[in-house]
Amino acid sequence: MVKICCIGAGYVGGPTMAVIALKCPTIEVAVVDISVPKILAWNSDQLPIYEPGLDEVVKQCRGKNLFFSTDVERHVSEADIIFVSVNTPTKTRGLGAGKAADLTYWESAARMIADVSKTDKIVVEKSTVPVKTAEAIEKILTHNSKGIKYQILSNPEFLAEGTAIKDLFNPDRVLIGGRETPDGLKAIQALKSVYAQWVPEERILTTNLWSAELSKLAANAFLAQRISSINAMSALCEATGADVSQVSHAVGKDTRIGPKFLNASVGFGGSCFQKDILNLIYICECNGLNEVAGYWKQVIKVNDYQKNRFVNRVVSSMFNTVSGKKIAILGFAFKKDTGDTRETPAIDVCKGLLGDKAKLSVYDPQVTEDQIQRDLSMNKFDWDHPIHLQPVSPTAAKEVSFAWDPYEATKDAHGVCILTEWDEFKTLDFQRIFKQMQKPAFVFDGRNVVDVQKLREIGFIVYSIGKPLDPWLKDMPVMA
Ligand SMILES: NC(=O)c1ccc[n+]([C@@H]2O[C@H](COP(=O)([O-])OP(=O)(O)OC[C@H]3O[C@@H](n4cnc5c(N)ncnc54)[C@H](O)[C@@H]3O)[C@@H](O)[C@H]2O)c1
Repeated sequence: MVKICCIGAGYVGGPTMAVIALKCPTIEVAVVDISVPKILAWNSDQLPIYEPGLDEVVKQCRGKNLFFSTDVERHVSEADIIFVSVNTPTKTRGLGAGKAADLTYWESAARMIADVSKTDKIVVEKSTVPVKTAEAIEKILTHNSKGIKYQILSNPEFLAEGTAIKDLFNPDRVLIGGRETPDGLKAIQALKSVYAQWVPEERILTTNLWSAELSKLAANAFLAQRISSINAMSALCEATGADVSQVSHAVGKDTRIGPKFLNASVGFGGSCFQKDILNLIYICECNGLNEVAGYWKQVIKVNDYQKNRFVNRVVSSMFNTVSGKKIAILGFAFKKDTGDTRETPAIDVCKGLLGDKAKLSVYDPQVTEDQIQRDLSMNKFDWDHPIHLQPVSPTAAKEVSFAWDPYEATKDAHGVCILTEWDEFKTLDFQRIFKQMQKPAFVFDGRNVVDVQKLREIGFIVYSIGKPLDPWLKDMPVMA
């Protein structure tokens, strides 16, 4: 029986391996992690991540051919194929701080593989890594090899959180990069035969190592660029009276452009987009490609601008101050159908409002109070370091409260900010919310989920990103 081991039981390692186990009953899959609580959770009824459809997949194979374990060394030494899906955050200090990928976790995984291996291995980069990481990993492995042969493959993951299981069942493509040597091609075939159990052959692309590594960074940069493009348009729509939803619909009808990823919002978030673009920028700069680096930098700048613009709209509409005012924050996750808050725009918006001394009441159906407190008291880029648990700042704690439902969050509030597009926000009883709020009552829709006209009829002053401005807002220009 072929044995697979995946190092890292996170948002990628857990779902990806669960789907491989489900689709390949003759393969034994072990997912290992240094985090004991995470592995305990994977072995319980309360999985450590929320992802639609994941529970069912895990329940079907756990204990049969899918195992979650902290015995990293045993499973690594027994495996034929080792996936490495550890975190690769942005470096917080030293050379390349704030831009380059931190490969500490990756390197320690590679050294551990070299230490415990007794048979030949295929080592698969699942984490998103800088171009040429495979070369570095190969060096670590071969210099410590004790005669064991390693083949390194790059197999970046393209799943999106919130639709991970759907994406894994039916991927647009699976990308496998490897060395163009006989042993390299053999390793590519071995991994290809795993995916071929459920992915049509024509969707399994094989390339050289560097193309595979770069394609992942490029794909995330292109996706984020579309969001920044429509967000840049949203600012112009507000200035001119155009409606961004109409513009994106019209633009997206062009088959050369397509309709996806053209929703204006308070900004993109998630663990990958910003980190991967920063990494791309760093690689460009290291190669002397400053113009190219500058081009991609702008995608992040527009994203930061959009978050700032949103905060400024809130503050300027409410008579230029939110000091002491209760603002309800509906949604904290970086998008719907996930509990993940890494780099969520809600962090910057909340910090911006707290900076103006607002009192926040936060409701999110999938994010815990502890998580929100941690996020609001953490420095940028610190979130992705697993051993890093920051103390909650006492000042942040006092100004932020947590609500169990949207009605509690909005009670006596002066304003409501919608920061995640959870479906349940579309069907809220806004009449009831209006009645219990301070007047004038404001709604700031950072995801364009509410029916603006209906809310205005109820009596709300509504700001919806990229939509024609409420007369109230027209008289209160925003300084961005
Ligand atoms: N989250 C996504 O949507 C997504 C999508 C595609 C690619 N990626 C990439 O995949 C990689 C993993 O992302 P994630 O979101 O799953 O991260 P994550 O933080 O959810 O999971 C990483 C796990 O690796 C574990 N780990 C770290 N070092 C280890 C070691 N030496 N031995 C054993 N376990 C170790 C951590 O404890 C953690 O549980 C990153 O490079 C990311 O960029 C993420």
